[in-house]
Amino acid sequence: MSAAAALLPILRRVEELRAATLPWRRAGQTIGLVPTMGALHAGHLALLGRAVADCDRAVATIFVNPKQFDRKEDLSRYPRDETRDTRLLAEHRCDLLFAPQVEAMYPPGFASTVGVTGVSDVLEGLYRPGHFNGVTTVVCKLLLQAQPDRAYFGEKDYQQLTVVKRMVRDLDIPVEIVPVATVREADGLALSSRNVNLTPAQRAVAPLLHRVMTEIAEELADGQTPATLLLPEGQQRLGSAGFTKIDYLALHAADDLTPLLRVDRPARLFAAAWLGKTRLIDNIAVESS
Ligand code: PAJ
Repeated sequence: MSAAAALLPILRRVEELRAATLPWRRAGQTIGLVPTMGALHAGHLALLGRAVADCDRAVATIFVNPKQFDRKEDLSRYPRDETRDTRLLAEHRCDLLFAPQVEAMYPPGFASTVGVTGVSDVLEGLYRPGHFNGVTTVVCKLLLQAQPDRAYFGEKDYQQLTVVKRMVRDLDIPVEIVPVATVREADGLALSSRNVNLTPAQRAVAPLLHRVMTEIAEELADGQTPATLLLPEGQQRLGSAGFTKIDYLALHAADDLTPLLRVDRPARLFAAAWLGKTRLIDNIAVESS
């Protein structure tokens, strides 16, 4: 047994996961699932903390899902450190890690896709073709494999959370999807596994994304200046701050992600911007004042 395995069980095969969780379910214990792609940080651990607090058993998954990467380079650059991740999970009272190989999730001949139209098609959907089909396919599999009572998703990926909620509702998957607020660095940068790819100079620019978004969100909430002026102005400010490309800075309804011109219902401001080869995304609530 490896040192990591002594900390908590690491399972690679679906049958092993089923065998490990069945006795818990039979004993009436609730199971909380925390799906991740690893390179764990305090954002992931906040999800796990909620699962540990809410449920009798907490299961984490680490699977760098090739189906949701639209750029080969992003997949090859994605940070991986299972030994460190395992230690962190054990320290934070995770009961079980499911970390399958690609072949275990997508055996030869795998031919199915789970897709959600509408909420998948805006924002990230426009810039990352096929991304959400990859996410919903793997999340659907993980939910069927682990059969948790609750599954935890971060508001950091608010569109993903919305898409997963819609999938669960549409397909009657018996699980409660629990949203967890975005964990940020002291300077406002949302924690992300990709942040390790930033150079020191890029890291210095990165928090301006959240700062500019916060300022624009306040002005949007205020309602004095139309979004059609504020959003391009915000994009310009991000460009001057040092972001090399801005995919979008956009206002959408918080529930179904309809694009909005004004804050006449609960709304969120979404952004995706590049620093060199690294793409950052963020979103914040816009409260009408
Ligand atoms: P990953 O990027 O590893 O994120 C796993 C979970 O952690 C997601 O629900 C994400 O929203 C949440 N998370 C990431 N950064 C966070 C932060 N700063 N604060 C709070 N939560 C944060 O998202 C994925 O993996 C994958 O798409 C996955 C759902 C695992 C499917 O492959």
